[in-house]
Parts: sequence; structure tokens; C-alpha cells
Amino acid sequence: MQKQHNISLLPHNTFGIDVKAHTVIKYADATELSELIRNTRESLSLPLLHIGQGSNLLFMNDFRGTILLNNNTEIEVLQQDQHNILVRVGAGYVMDDFISHAIEQGWYGLENLSNIPGQVGASAVQNIGAYGVEVGSMIHSVSCISLEDGSPKTFMHDECCFSYRYSIFKSEEIRGKYAVVAVTYSLSLDFLPHLDYGGIRQALAARGVTADDVTAQELRDTIITIRGNKLPDPKVLGNAGSFFMNPIVSREVFERNVLSAYPEAPSYPYDSEHVKLPAAWLIEQCGWKGKTLGKAGVHSQQPLVLVNTGGAEGSDIKALSDTIQKDVTDRFGIDIYPEVNFIY
Ligand code: EPU
Repeated sequence: MQKQHNISLLPHNTFGIDVKAHTVIKYADATELSELIRNTRESLSLPLLHIGQGSNLLFMNDFRGTILLNNNTEIEVLQQDQHNILVRVGAGYVMDDFISHAIEQGWYGLENLSNIPGQVGASAVQNIGAYGVEVGSMIHSVSCISLEDGSPKTFMHDECCFSYRYSIFKSEEIRGKYAVVAVTYSLSLDFLPHLDYGGIRQALAARGVTADDVTAQELRDTIITIRGNKLPDPKVLGNAGSFFMNPIVSREVFERNVLSAYPEAPSYPYDSEHVKLPAAWLIEQCGWKGKTLGKAGVHSQQPLVLVNTGGAEGSDIKALSDTIQKDVTDRFGIDIYPEVNFIY
């Protein structure tokens, strides 16, 4: 275990916000975390905040508590039959590295999630999703350690309550109470590509690959290219991916507030009564695409992504976020909410 004080969080958040943490602890595995909580919780500066690569966080101030970082990258095959495999992965494994490893091993299902920043632990908390696939559908169970008493607890798939950008780990009741230490994925040994999200088939065709003979590696490479064309690289321009969630509204609200004035407005069916709207489109209609406010900006290729144009503080990003939220509400009567976690 490694414990440090008064540490810059710049390497630990993709937004590039330059704040400090009172304490940062890197632990090796679940046993070490459990012992740390059981034996020394009283002496740690609080609150405890478990983070991965900090790709979905916005630090608003110096953090007065203890940041916990997981170093565990163990992979263990728990079970395998002719078509499926159960693989337990340490929460500290970089998700994209695991996806690459899985494809090499012939474990399929995660290809469309290629190049999403963050670690395996966060994949379960956020229920990361892209290009028509959500990771929750492939999560068998999530192993945790209680941050209150150090005890272990496993949440089975159904207990995780996965839905769009949501899991029980984001709920009022559970949020911040557990550290995810490993995720068990149920992956397929047969490659069944998901190609129906807008743009994938065209991008494959542009590479001279047909849907019938695409390989998992080609699909991964294609997804990486599509993402790379739209999303800014956090190493170059600080950002946390999609800043807002896409709002889910009733068909009635969509027709009355949006379609009546914009007959071409995009929407995706969500259930029989609701549609999901691309927040990127709503933000673009409000004139924010490519615009800046102070040291915060709206990305020019994908307006759902807010960026640090250089030296921004959390409050700069929040000021832009608040203004965009208000403009979208004023124009469309639809509220959009950040997917990024604000840390005070
Ligand atoms: N759009 C615009 N203007 C733009 C860009 C997009 O109007 O400049 C509209 C278009 O109608 C487009 C639609 O937005 O068809 C959807 O755009 P895109 O395919 O880029 O997806 P998204 O809904 O904006 C979501 C995820 C992304 C994920 C993509 C692809 C959320 C909050 N975001 O974005 O996730 O990569 O779909 O599946 O659901 C992330 O979480 O960090 C992330 C990047």
C-alpha cells in the first residue's frame, strides 16, 4: 500500500483540473483495502472517495478527504462452456486494455465499448455504453468492499439495477458506500457483432469490410476510428466524455416541445411511451456548439462534451454547464442533467 499527503490530482482527472487531495492511498487488492478500512478507518481523513482514472469527475475544490486508488489488475477465468465464459477482472484494469485482451483471447461482446476511458470498476458503476451496447448486459456480478466496515459484498447482476447510464452504485442509498474491487463479465465465445448503431456499417464499408466477414478486431478498430473523429483526446484537451446524459422524455413532450418546431429533430425509441433525445442536438440548436465561456468550452465535433480550454477550475466548467442547462430548458422545456460527478 502507498499513502501520500497533499497530492496533486492533475494525473487523476481527465478534465485536467489542478486541485490537491489531503491523502491519496493506492492499495493492492481487496484484502489490503478491507484491512485498511477495518483497522485504520478512524484515522483516515474523510470523506473517502474511490476513483479509477477520474474520467467522469469534476473536482470543484481541493479534496479534504482520502482518495482511494485500486491497483488490482488480476484476471481469473471462473467458468467456461462451449459458448460462454465468466471472467473476473480486478477493478483497476484499464477497461480498454481489458477489451483488447478479451478480443485476443476470443472473448466477445465488449468490442463496441472500445476506447472508452476509465477502469473496469467504473464500467460497472456507470454502466458504460456506446454504439448500441451497454456493459451491464455482460456483467454477471460486482465484488465490493464496504467503505464503512471493510466487509466484502457481491452484487449479482439483478441487484445492480442497470439501466441507461445507471447502476445501484449511483443510487442515493448505496453511492459512496462501497468500493468495487472486481467485476465478473459473462462474455461470449461466439462473435456476434452489433452493427446497427448509426454509422458503424458505413464506417466498416469505408474500410472495405463487409458486415458478413467483419472480425472483432476490425470492429474494435472501426469504433476507435469513429470515436477518434468526434471525441477530443483528454491528453490534449481536458474533458470527461459526454458531460450530459441524453434526456428521456414522453413522446407527447417530444412532439409538443420539439417536433412541432423542428420536424427533422432526431429521437430514438426508448420504450412504448418514451423517446431518448440526443442532448448534443438540443445543445447545438441552442447555439453552443464550438463556443466557449471563460476557460470552458463546448467541443466543436460533439457538443455533448465540455472541455477545459486551458487552466479551467471546476467552477468554470460548472458555469458553462449551468448556462447550457438553462438554455436547453428555456428553449425546449426539457431538462438535461450532467452525467459527470461533481466532487466538492
Ligand atoms: N448530434 C448533433 N450534433 C453533433 C453531434 C451529434 O446534433 O454535433 C446529434 C445527432 O442527431 C446524432 C446524435 O446527436 O445522431 C447522436 O450522436 P452520437 O452518436 O455522437 O451519440 P450521443 O448520443 O451524443 C452517446 C453516448 C456516448 C457514446 C455515443 C455513441 C451518452 C451520454 N453518450 O452520445 O458516450 O460514445 O452515444 O454510442 O449517452 C461518454 O459516455 O463519454 C460517451 C462519449
